[in-house]
Amino acid sequence: MFYLKDVKLSNFRCYESYYQEFSPNINIIIGDNAVGKTSLIESVYVLAVTKSHKSTSDMELIKYNADFCFVKGTFIDDKKTEVVFSLSSKGKQIVKNAKKVKHLSEYVGFFYVVMFCPEDLELIKGAPSSRRKFLDINISQLNNNYLESLIKYKKILKDRNLLLKDLAENKRFDSELLPILTEQLVNEGKKIVSFRKEFIARINKFFMERVKSISNNKEIVRIEYCPSCDEENMSKAFKEKEKLDLLTKTTNCGPHRDDFVIYFNDKETCYASQGQQRTFALALELALIDLIKEKSDKIIVVLDDVFGELDIQRQKELIKLLEIEYQIFITTTSIDHLDDEILKNSKVIKINKDGE
Ligand SMILES: Nc1ncnc2c1ncn2[C@@H]1O[C@H](COP(=O)(O)OP(=O)(O)O)[C@@H](O)[C@H]1O
Ligand SMILES: [Mg+2]
Repeated sequence: MFYLKDVKLSNFRCYESYYQEFSPNINIIIGDNAVGKTSLIESVYVLAVTKSHKSTSDMELIKYNADFCFVKGTFIDDKKTEVVFSLSSKGKQIVKNAKKVKHLSEYVGFFYVVMFCPEDLELIKGAPSSRRKFLDINISQLNNNYLESLIKYKKILKDRNLLLKDLAENKRFDSELLPILTEQLVNEGKKIVSFRKEFIARINKFFMERVKSISNNKEIVRIEYCPSCDEENMSKAFKEKEKLDLLTKTTNCGPHRDDFVIYFNDKETCYASQGQQRTFALALELALIDLIKEKSDKIIVVLDDVFGELDIQRQKELIKLLEIEYQIFITTTSIDHLDDEILKNSKVIKINKDGE
């Protein structure tokens, strides 16, 4: 089984210097609010994805008033692998087994973290941007080409929006550059839409199964992709929106406006009860594990602040679903609500104030 044996943190979030060994099975990280539980598991996430699961800016990972941070992890399966993530104002770097990784996109996918957290509910009832983030992070983890297209797309989009602004402010509508940027954007955009289409079709299959079994066949669900414009018609859609783009100084169609909708019993999930919404969010992450499993067995599961909230029966069920195969990290403020049997088989890691 693949697992993370230990981490060493330096100037990472609230940790100045910290070392911790982990169990290959269940690790329960316990401590009051704001002591650094999420930060510790965020370091595991960073080793997988090379960025934070919550901040948009990498620099937030560096401890206040420090100018660099690093996370070093030792992974075990049939052999030992050492990974060091480091970050400073000069940028970030991954060193794997003492060798510097040239392109981060080549590294991402070494192992996978599937994170269950309270924010998952946003996938069900939140804004489209949370669902796009879910797509981007997970498809990037699974496919380097997607990540490359996404990075290119974002850069071209930024250039195009700057140009639109510039043209509008100078009342010029005769740019030669605009059609060139549009074509480049459409090229990358088509690839992104095609990856997303495939991913959603695949995760949909697992999601339906998971919800069926969790709800005892009561809920029939499906996920439907809603691209802002389809692959085939993307050029045309951009042409049609060009006037509006110039007027509004921004790009009004393309994958950066995509969304997906989850239906249950043919209704949209905004009509679901709290309990149903939680079930769907949970099932979506479980479906993600199913999907990743087809590609790799190097998966680490993180349950951040979602476990103590479940009743004992559900805790047992969830652990049963995961335990045999994966290393698990659970964060919680109190062990009082945890099942004794689960506790007995876990390593409990107590965190005091500010990562002490
Ligand atoms: N870059 C940073 N430098 C120092 N402290 C930080 C940084 N980012 C966050 N923190 C602080 O770290 C503490 C721990 O946060 P967190 O790990 O989310 O706690 P928990 O999950 O235990 O509630 C918080 O007080 C937060 O303000
Ligand atoms: Mg937390």
